Amino acid sequence: MNVSVKIGIIGGTGDIGKGLALRISDKHEIILGSREASKACEAAEATVCTLQEHNCIGLCRGTSNEEAVRDADVVVISVMFQHVAPTLAGIDPKYLENKIVISPVNPMGKKDGYFFFDRPEEGSAALAIQKMLPASAKLVTAFNNIAAHKWTLLDEELDYTVAVCSDDAEAKKVVMQLVSEVSKLRAVDAGPLAVSGIVESITPLVLNIAKFNGMKDVGVHFS
Ligand SMILES: NC(=O)c1ccc[n+]([C@@H]2O[C@H](COP(=O)([O-])OP(=O)(O)OC[C@H]3O[C@@H](n4cnc5c(N)ncnc54)[C@H](OP(=O)(O)O)[C@@H]3O)[C@@H](O)[C@H]2O)c1
Repeated sequence: MNVSVKIGIIGGTGDIGKGLALRISDKHEIILGSREASKACEAAEATVCTLQEHNCIGLCRGTSNEEAVRDADVVVISVMFQHVAPTLAGIDPKYLENKIVISPVNPMGKKDGYFFFDRPEEGSAALAIQKMLPASAKLVTAFNNIAAHKWTLLDEELDYTVAVCSDDAEAKKVVMQLVSEVSKLRAVDAGPLAVSGIVESITPLVLNIAKFNGMKDVGVHFS
């Protein structure tokens, strides 16, 4: 994707949203969305300032979740799974029609000191989210298994494999290209959305590995 695209991030004031903005807004326009537009504007200003400190120019602005979707070519859903349905219900579905929608969403829980994959009845967050989107939206899962904290460490490379799932071959190709433009990330085709639950479930696995082995920022490399 050599052409600059507009990427709207629902819940863009959160850890993943701000991290994506820091790593991508030097290449593509990032529109951070929020329930409170002023909060998104502050997050966008902070992103631009941080990038300036690293001698980079970032194109990033903040607005409401709905306007972030409306103005975007590609949408990222960056809220916790339990907030996805009410958040999408507040956005006019016509703004999502025909758009590529990226889900990094991992439905997880924690009990007795370990993390578990809290599988929705549809089989995955992505399969549940697909039902909430207009039929013409092209859902792609990506960025599920990288800790948000790593995105913000601009002096460090992001050296991970990103498993990408979608039922739309063209949308998958676009997102894989987008992924591969970030640091040292390597996108791999992980198959259709039907297997997205496997990718989502890797996140509680890596969190447990980190916790029980005293490791930091465990990530995924496939080679
Ligand atoms: N954190 C990670 O390391 C990580 C890694 C991989 C994937 N993920 C996935 O990425 C997604 C975003 O994770 P995150 O850590 O960035 O989330 P987060 O920081 O906890 O929240 C993201 C944003 O969600 C909005 N929000 C909070 N409560 C809400 C509510 N009740 N209703 C609607 N919106 C609400 C907030 O934005 P406003 O207050 O501005 O509206 C918040 O900034 C999740 O689905 C997660 O599973 C996270």
